[in-house]
Amino acid sequence: MPQKIKASVAYGIGKGFAQPEEIIIDDPIGAEVLVDVQASGLCHSDLHLVEDDDQFFPFPAVIGHEVAGIVEAVGPEVQGIKVGDHVIASLEQVCGHCANCLNGHPQSCTQQQECVRKPGEKPRLSFPDGRPITQAFGTGGFAEKALIHENQLAVVNNEVPWDQAACIGCATITGAGAAINSAHIRPGQTVAVVGTGGIGLNIISGARICGAKKIIAIDVFDNKLEFAKKFGATDVINSSKEDAVAKVRELTDGGVDASFEAIGLPGTMKQCWDMLAVDGNAYCIGLAKPDATVELEINPADFLVHQRGFKGVWMGSTNIKYDIPMYADMAVDGRLNMHDIVTQHINLSQIDEAYVQLKKGEVIRSVITEF
Ligand SMILES: NC(=O)c1ccc[n+]([C@@H]2O[C@H](COP(=O)([O-])OP(=O)(O)OC[C@H]3O[C@@H](n4cnc5c(N)ncnc54)[C@H](O)[C@@H]3O)[C@@H](O)[C@H]2O)c1
Ligand SMILES: [Zn+2]
Ligand SMILES: [Zn+2]
Repeated sequence: MPQKIKASVAYGIGKGFAQPEEIIIDDPIGAEVLVDVQASGLCHSDLHLVEDDDQFFPFPAVIGHEVAGIVEAVGPEVQGIKVGDHVIASLEQVCGHCANCLNGHPQSCTQQQECVRKPGEKPRLSFPDGRPITQAFGTGGFAEKALIHENQLAVVNNEVPWDQAACIGCATITGAGAAINSAHIRPGQTVAVVGTGGIGLNIISGARICGAKKIIAIDVFDNKLEFAKKFGATDVINSSKEDAVAKVRELTDGGVDASFEAIGLPGTMKQCWDMLAVDGNAYCIGLAKPDATVELEINPADFLVHQRGFKGVWMGSTNIKYDIPMYADMAVDGRLNMHDIVTQHINLSQIDEAYVQLKKGEVIRSVITEF
């Protein structure tokens, strides 16, 4: 039977996240899994989607993509997940059989529509009067329950705390994945992370797990930089007080092997390029406004000799079924610091307030644990 659930609906650009209201969630069909959401994290991307960018999906929508919960019911075609399992969702929609999925790039699946219902089918989410609601990225985590394709879910150990589990679903796979899977950081390398919020701190964790010898954290808030030290930053730079590029060059004797941009600003993406050592690579992770452009000054002759790279990274090049359970195990045994990522627990009616706090630099991750 379709159920009534509480959800925070986003009605359009500039309208924020509405107070919780009753909506209808359908029963699982096919390979869908009904998840009783225990925790839902507030990634900066969801704010971007209601403030700046309407190219991803139509409103009204239930947003939220850092989702962890208990499986309540499964559709008839679900194979690897059973009722009672603890699961973490990802916005990564994966068919499992296209060329990108098969050659190790599931984050770039070309058949993502297979993870959602087809046009004309009954919507997963609707208003009580029957009008459909978009379930953003097939997750729709700002709600009591979520109906998600099994390919977007990973089963994890039962010990990982729910709030930490939620953040693994995006902040960790994106951040740690960027260092581990995308940049393949090697022991002894030097790394700079520009923007040390939820994603940036996980990049630092990933770089530490890979054995980076120097990890330089850069942010405009001293409190964020203090956090960065807890995650393994060896040096910190407040770029509102000093020139980040010059300081990185000084600390590394010429530049870093890998720089990561985790904000979404053209200016800091350029900084990442400017702070590279010979053979270094800059990885851009932050979501920029749709009309933004980055201008790099490239002298073709120097470019060859210096062998630098500038690369976009989507979802930490993650294979969710493999990487998410691994991170959950590492969170439990302490190798991955997830404890310090969650700085605030909120209820479903406090999303807007918590995003204001995020913009002011007052919190790392707020996680909804009361619905
Ligand atoms: N590429 C992907 O797959 C992917 C996935 C998830 C999130 N994202 C994006 O990553 C970015 C970071 O997300 P988050 O949740 O960590 O956000 P966040 O708000 O928690 O962190 C951003 C950090 O950048 C700092 N900052 C802001 N302006 C700065 C500046 N000029 N110089 C230095 N530091 C500055 C802030 O103080 C904050 O600590 C967002 O743009 C988000 O949309 C991308
Ligand atoms: Zn995210
Ligand atoms: Zn695919």
